[in-house]
Amino acid sequence: MRILGIESSCDETAAAVVEDGRFILSNVIASSVKEHQAFGGVVPEIASRQHLVSMVPVLDEAVGVCGGLEGVDAIAVTAGPGLVGSLLVGLMTAKTLAWLSGKPLVGVHHLEAHLQSPFVGWPDRPPPEPSFPQLALLVSGGHTLLFHVTAPRQRILLGATRDDAVGEAYDKAAKILGLGYPGGRVIDELAATGDPGMYPLPVGLRHSGDLDTSFSGLKTALSQLVSRLGDERVDRDLKHVCAGFQQAVVTALLLKMEKALDQLPVSQLVLAGGVAANSRLRADTEALARRRGLSCVLPPRSLCTDNAAMVAAAGQLAFDAGERAGLELNAFASSTLSRRGGDLSLCRR
Ligand code: KG4
Ligand code: ZN
Repeated sequence: MRILGIESSCDETAAAVVEDGRFILSNVIASSVKEHQAFGGVVPEIASRQHLVSMVPVLDEAVGVCGGLEGVDAIAVTAGPGLVGSLLVGLMTAKTLAWLSGKPLVGVHHLEAHLQSPFVGWPDRPPPEPSFPQLALLVSGGHTLLFHVTAPRQRILLGATRDDAVGEAYDKAAKILGLGYPGGRVIDELAATGDPGMYPLPVGLRHSGDLDTSFSGLKTALSQLVSRLGDERVDRDLKHVCAGFQQAVVTALLLKMEKALDQLPVSQLVLAGGVAANSRLRADTEALARRRGLSCVLPPRSLCTDNAAMVAAAGQLAFDAGERAGLELNAFASSTLSRRGGDLSLCRR
């Protein structure tokens, strides 16, 4: 079965065709990140306007691999959480296609989609099989969530950030260091050759006893370090400052993963979300899995940040579970997911 996925929750306009929820036939992404860079973050109105410009060409290219819309069996679209004006563009597009073609429509939770990203791949590079129970860490620009996944789509939220999301922390750190937006990849690249011990920064909630994380104190500590060092020294030691920041972030995340592993049965470690592209987080998570004798599943870097292949994959799971959306399907801006007991069900957002 082939599902067309459509994603427009933030600054990426994306469409993809995925077979049986696992094999990517096409995966097209147009990013408006350049349009936002001058403003230091995503400007919702600019994002919406760019979706309007990019959506049809992106769709056209994505369905081209299967001879147009005729070649797909269902349509899956991100309904939230995200920027409402942006989501509406994808939703209206998906609904119009479903209405005109008579094909089934499925609404997808953006975070549910991220959690599927490690389990999609290409026909010549088959994706890994999930094995349960999993410990899944979802780290993106808007969320930092740790789940115990007991079966497909059965998740218990173990911990969440109490303030900034990890990606947000990277982006704020990049702003403090004058590295532009978005900051995650640049900091990651600079940190790779830096000495993390030269400027150690605090690890949030190290002794909290729970599985929550916090990154706002780290941001303040970085800001104080930068004022103390002065511009010239920060420029000279930029890679070391970045390495110190990255060390504090990854240590905090790994600490909570270790703690969760001490308490729960787990057979597979899973990373997802934009920050799952981070080289230090990937390496340390793989090392943790090796130490504990677990399998480790990381999405390919190209599927860490927003894309529609993961939306189609999550759409397939929803479709298989019998979910169908009507033309009344609407956007939602936020989810209760970060609350204890919250779940990823689209209906119970
Ligand atoms: O998942 P995503 O594309 O968007 C959301 O749904 O939020 O994640 C974007 C976030 C940004 O904050 C970006 O700075 C961060 O992912 N990011 C990284 C890396 N690549 C992207 N953070 C750390 N290291 C990276 N290599
Ligand atoms: Zn995302």
